[in-house]
Amino acid sequence: MRGRFFALEGIDGSGKSTQLELLARRLEQAGFPCLTTCEPTAGPIGSLLRQVLTGQIPCDSRVVAPLFTADRLDHLLNGENGLCRAVERGLTVLSDRYYFSSYAYQSVDLPLEWVIEVNRPCAQLLRPTATVFIDVSPELALARIAQNRERTELFETEDRLTRTREQYLKAFELEKGREQVILIPGDRDVETIASDIWSTISTFLSPGA
Ligand code: ADP
Ligand code: TYD
Repeated sequence: MRGRFFALEGIDGSGKSTQLELLARRLEQAGFPCLTTCEPTAGPIGSLLRQVLTGQIPCDSRVVAPLFTADRLDHLLNGENGLCRAVERGLTVLSDRYYFSSYAYQSVDLPLEWVIEVNRPCAQLLRPTATVFIDVSPELALARIAQNRERTELFETEDRLTRTREQYLKAFELEKGREQVILIPGDRDVETIASDIWSTISTFLSPGA
C-alpha cells in the first residue's frame, strides 16, 4: 500500500518539530514505519536557502520563492531519499514544512496565486494526505523562540509572523476543496496538542481512507 504523507505547518516557534517527533512515535507504535524530514532540506539548495535566511546572502524575494520550489522538487525527486519513492515504498512520511510554507511566507512579498503556480509541479507530484496547521499567536511563538535561541532569522519578527499567519489562513481558504487542512490550536500543553493531532491523523490511516 502507498504510504501517507503528512505536512506540519505553522509560523516559526509554533511547535511543529516537537509535534512531528511525537506523531512519528505514535505512528511507529501503531505499526506505521515513518520517514521524518523537513524543509528547507539539508541538500545543496536547502543549504543555500539557510544562508539567505540568516542574511549572509542577500536575495530578491522573486529569486527566493523559486529556490524554495527547487529545494522542494529535490526533496521529492532526489535519487537517494526522495519523498515520492518513500511514499511508493509504503512509508508514512512526515515533513516539518511543505508548500504551504511557501504559500504563506513568500506571499508576504509576492502575489499568493503566483507562489501557488510556482509550486504546481510539487502539488502534481505529491499532495499531502493532510496538512496539519498548528496555530499560535506571533507573540507566543516569539516568546518560545527567544527562550531557546540567541539569534533570530530573517522572518522572525512580530510584524512578519503576523502577516505570515494571515497568509496561511488566506492560502487555506483559497485551496479549500483541493487540500485537506487540519487546524490545531497550538497554545496548549504539548501532550494535549499531540493527542488532538493523533485523533485526526489516525482517521486517515485505514486502507479505505
Ligand atoms: P517549530 O518547529 O515550529 O519552530 P518547536 O517545536 O521547535 O517549534 O518549538 C519551539 C520551542 O517551543 C521549543 O523550545 C519547544 O520546546 C517549545 N514548545 C513546543 N511546543 C510547546 C508547547 N505546546 N508549549 C510550550 N512550549 C512548547
Ligand atoms: P525552519 O527551519 O522550519 O524554521 P522554524 O523551525 O523556526 O519554524 O524554517 C526556516 C525558515 O524558512 C522559516 O522562517 C520559514 C522559512 N520558509 C519559507 O519562507 N518558505 C518555505 O517554503 C519554507 C519551507 C520555509
